[in-house]
Amino acid sequence: MDKLIMRGGQPLSGTIPISGAKNAALPLMTASLLTSDPLILRHVPHLADITTLAEVLGEHGAELSLHGHGDGGETGRVLSIATPQITNAVAPYELVRKMRASILVLGPLLARHGEAKVSLPGGCAIGTRPVDLHLKALEQLGAHIELEGGYIHARADKGLKGAHIRFPSVSVGATENLLMAASLAEGETILENAAREPEIGDLVACLNGMGAKIRGAGSETISISGVARLHGTEHRVIPDRIETGTYALAAAATGGDVTLTGTRPELIDSLTELMIKAGADIETGAETMRIFRDPGRALEGVDMMTQPYPGFPTDLQAQFMACMATAGGAAMISETIFENRFMHVPELMRMGANINLHGGTALVRGVEQLTGAPVMATDLRASVCLVIAGLVAKGETEINRVYHLDRGYERIEDKLSACGASIRRERS
Ligand code: UD1
Repeated sequence: MDKLIMRGGQPLSGTIPISGAKNAALPLMTASLLTSDPLILRHVPHLADITTLAEVLGEHGAELSLHGHGDGGETGRVLSIATPQITNAVAPYELVRKMRASILVLGPLLARHGEAKVSLPGGCAIGTRPVDLHLKALEQLGAHIELEGGYIHARADKGLKGAHIRFPSVSVGATENLLMAASLAEGETILENAAREPEIGDLVACLNGMGAKIRGAGSETISISGVARLHGTEHRVIPDRIETGTYALAAAATGGDVTLTGTRPELIDSLTELMIKAGADIETGAETMRIFRDPGRALEGVDMMTQPYPGFPTDLQAQFMACMATAGGAAMISETIFENRFMHVPELMRMGANINLHGGTALVRGVEQLTGAPVMATDLRASVCLVIAGLVAKGETEINRVYHLDRGYERIEDKLSACGASIRRERS
C-alpha cells in the first residue's frame, strides 16, 4: 500500500488549481442512466471514486470514454457516457461496498428501466449511514421495495408517479436520488426539506439541460414536473468546495501565502468567515481565493459546528480541527451530521495535539508545536486532516493507507509540492 512521507514546518507558498467536485461529478454520472443519449461531463476529477462509479455504470450497460487529462487546465478531463440500453439492473456488492455513492443509481434505474437491484451499502467508517430516507421517498413515488439477501430490490412496473414528499431530515444523497427519479415520473413531485448543497444545484442544472423541469434548487422546497424522456447534454462540473477549503486551511495552518485558482469562493462562505475570525487574511476574486497571514500573527481558536449547507460542511471538520490544533486558545468543534466522525482525533493526539472528546463535541486546546509520527486514517477527510497536521509538524510524518486520499484528492502530493511542501509518495 502506498504511503506519503512528509517533513513539516515549511509555510506553503504558491498557486493551487482546484479540481472539479467529486461530490458533484458522482451524481452527474449516475444521471447519465436517465437517457439513451450521450451525456458529456467536463472538468471531471481524476479520482478512485470516479473510476469505481464508472465500473458500476458499465455493469448497467453504459459506454464511457474519457478525453483530456487531469492537469487542472481549463477543462480537466472530459467524460462521455452513453447508455443506449439498460442491459442489467444489478449494482453488485463488490462495487457498492467500495463506495456508498453507488446508491445513486437506484433512482435513475428505477425511473428509466422500472427495476433496480442495488446492494445495501452497509456501515462505513464514519457511522452507520442508513439509506431509509432514499427508500421511503421512492416508495412515495410508487416504487415497490423489498430487501433481500443484502440487496434493495425496487420495482415500478407501471412507472413512477409524482408525489408530495417531506424528508424528515436533510439528506444530500436522498435529495439527489429523488430529483433523478421524479424527473421521469408522471406528474408533479414536491420535495420539502430538500438538501441545499451546491452539488444539488449542479445536478439540477444538468438535469434541466437534459430536458427536465425542476424549479427551486438551492431552497428547501424543490418542484419537479415529470417529463416522458430526457436527452443528452454537455455540462461542466462545479469546482470542489471541499478541496478548496482543505487547501485554504492548509495554507492558514502553515502561515503560508497560497492562491487557489479555478474555484468559487462563495461556496465556502461558512469556512471563510471562521478563518477570518481565527486571524487568517483572505482575498477573493470571481474564481480565485488567496489565503495568507501576517507572519507575526498566530491563529486563534474559534468554535465551529457542522451543519447542512449553508452551514459549515462536515467534510471540512477534520481539516479544521488540524488547523485549530496549533492555534492559540481553545476551539470547540461539534459534529452534528455523522455520529462517528472523530476517527482522526487519536491520530492527531499521537502527533501531540491536546483534544478532549465528549460525544459529538471535541475541545481542542492549541499546542505550540505538533511532532511528526507514523499515522493512518480510516476515511478520506480524516486522512487529509493528517496531511495538514504533517505540514505543520516538526520532523517526519508517514501517512499510511493513502488510497483513502486517492478517493477524493487529485494529485495531492504534486499540488502541495508545487507550494514548497516536502511530501513524497512511496509506492509499494
Ligand atoms: C454526502 C456526501 C458526503 C457528505 C454528506 C453530508 C456525496 C457523494 N457524499 O453524503 O461527502 O459528508 O453528504 O454533507 O455527495 N441519513 C439517514 N438516512 C438516509 C440517508 C442519510 O439517516 O437514508 C443520515 C446519514 O447517516 C447522515 C445524514 O443523514 O447522518 C446526512 O447524510 P447524507 O446527506 O445523506 O450524506 P450522503 O449523501 O451519504
